[in-house]
Amino acid sequence: MTAQLEATAQAMVADGKGILAADESSGTIKKRFDSIGVESTEENRRDYREMLFRCTDAMKTCISGVILFDETLRQKANDGTPLSQVISETGAIPGIKVDTGAKDLAACPGEKVTEGLDGLRERFAEYYDLGARFAKWRAVINIGDGIPSRTCLEANAHALARYAALAQEANIVPIVEPEVIMDGPHDIAQCFDATEAALNTLYDELYTQRVVLEGTILKPNMVLSGTDCATQAGIDEVAAQTVKCLKRTVPAAVPGICFLSGGQSDEDATAHLSAMNAMADNPWKLSFSYGRALQAAALKAWGGKAENVPAAQSAFTHRAKMNSLAATGQWNTELEKAA
Ligand code: 13P
Repeated sequence: MTAQLEATAQAMVADGKGILAADESSGTIKKRFDSIGVESTEENRRDYREMLFRCTDAMKTCISGVILFDETLRQKANDGTPLSQVISETGAIPGIKVDTGAKDLAACPGEKVTEGLDGLRERFAEYYDLGARFAKWRAVINIGDGIPSRTCLEANAHALARYAALAQEANIVPIVEPEVIMDGPHDIAQCFDATEAALNTLYDELYTQRVVLEGTILKPNMVLSGTDCATQAGIDEVAAQTVKCLKRTVPAAVPGICFLSGGQSDEDATAHLSAMNAMADNPWKLSFSYGRALQAAALKAWGGKAENVPAAQSAFTHRAKMNSLAATGQWNTELEKAA
């Protein structure tokens, strides 16, 4: 069992490959579609996602796995092929988001705790049968006056670790995602402290819940200045602070770290990843698990119209290639412009 988990985790961070996060919940995908004036129907969601998964060249060369929402794992492409099969035929691994969302944490104003543990063992068994070989659970951690609190960090780490243990029991690799949110006026030092606390709490709890680290992937935020902070740290500082924070907190037994993009611009998300990979002697693979930073350009180019599919697919392919280069530290602005 452990051997299968380890092999899957290693495949998820194969050289030059990363993860496409296409697991927007019904509410989130509606927001994305609203931004391009497209109605969020089941058919439109299917068409949009099928268009991404059919970027065969990008999928084969840049994408190791795709995180899906429950609906998508059960959907069929226009020609009747299950979407999970469209993905696996490119060599990428289908994954599934299993948490049921972040809710207000009682007695802790401004803080969240992620739900979804009830019935999870049974859901994992079904997801395995549907072809999922990895999963995702996202915790939301806000920075503010006196927060994150110990209460919030521990409640979320406990849930993440309970989820991870159940995933491994089902032979599914857990992506553990404690996302420190970038919104707010905080500076990069506050983001560093919150991220360090969140990761230390998480790895302590993963140990307590007997999770095998070699069969996990971490999906963290980068250490960034808050979006409303007057001083914005540059690319090299973000890369240096992020790697410093991860080295303090993430055991070398973890095979790979795939960052979320979290609202960064497409190019910043790529530049930060490439700068981190250009630094020597990181004990783990560093790659991407981007949602917005991989999809934003394609979504806009598509605009819900069939005639825009080729343009949208080339926008997605371009971003996937840039991030693939970043995953080995070989991206630069000239390559961005040349394309
Ligand atoms: P973003 O890259 O848009 O932050 O999404 C990644 C993700 O899966 C968040 O849970």
